[in-house]
Amino acid sequence: MPEAIEKVAIQVNVNGKRHSLSVEPRTLLVEMLREPLDLTGTHVGCDTTYCGACTVLLNGAAVKSCTVLAVQADGAEIVTVEGLEQNGQMHPIQKAFGDAYGLQCGYCTPGIMLSALQLLTKNRQLTEKEMRKAIAGNTCRCTGYQNILKAIQLAAQSMKGV
Ligand code: FES
Ligand code: FES
Repeated sequence: MPEAIEKVAIQVNVNGKRHSLSVEPRTLLVEMLREPLDLTGTHVGCDTTYCGACTVLLNGAAVKSCTVLAVQADGAEIVTVEGLEQNGQMHPIQKAFGDAYGLQCGYCTPGIMLSALQLLTKNRQLTEKEMRKAIAGNTCRCTGYQNILKAIQLAAQSMKGV
């Protein structure tokens, strides 16, 4: 009989809620988010750290959660797309993606919004180059990116007073 893999106890704060979990050392952060925590808005689009569909914020930094082990997130604050809405109100970046038609199939959208949000927390006077750089690790196969850039710019404007 194969030996059971010993699990590791970790604590994470996801979207403002603390969780104590027991994970295998090989469990990926994206697996932990999607399976025990049922936060399926974090997507998996590849297995090569390429597409960025799995992007979340880890202590404020946009990371590809398919490339981070769950144990590496022990003690961390994580934000997924489900954490953007507050008190039933869409986050300005969610609203901007709708208003600027920044998505088609939507598969890439959670990851792109979180990559953009990392930029928007530091800078709201954005150049096109800065926006393109912020989402360089996120692939969109539908939109051609123009409306994504418009959506990020729109979010920057609506977040200026926030
Ligand atoms: S699933 Fe594609 S980069 Fe993570
Ligand atoms: S909207 Fe379909 S992949 Fe980006």
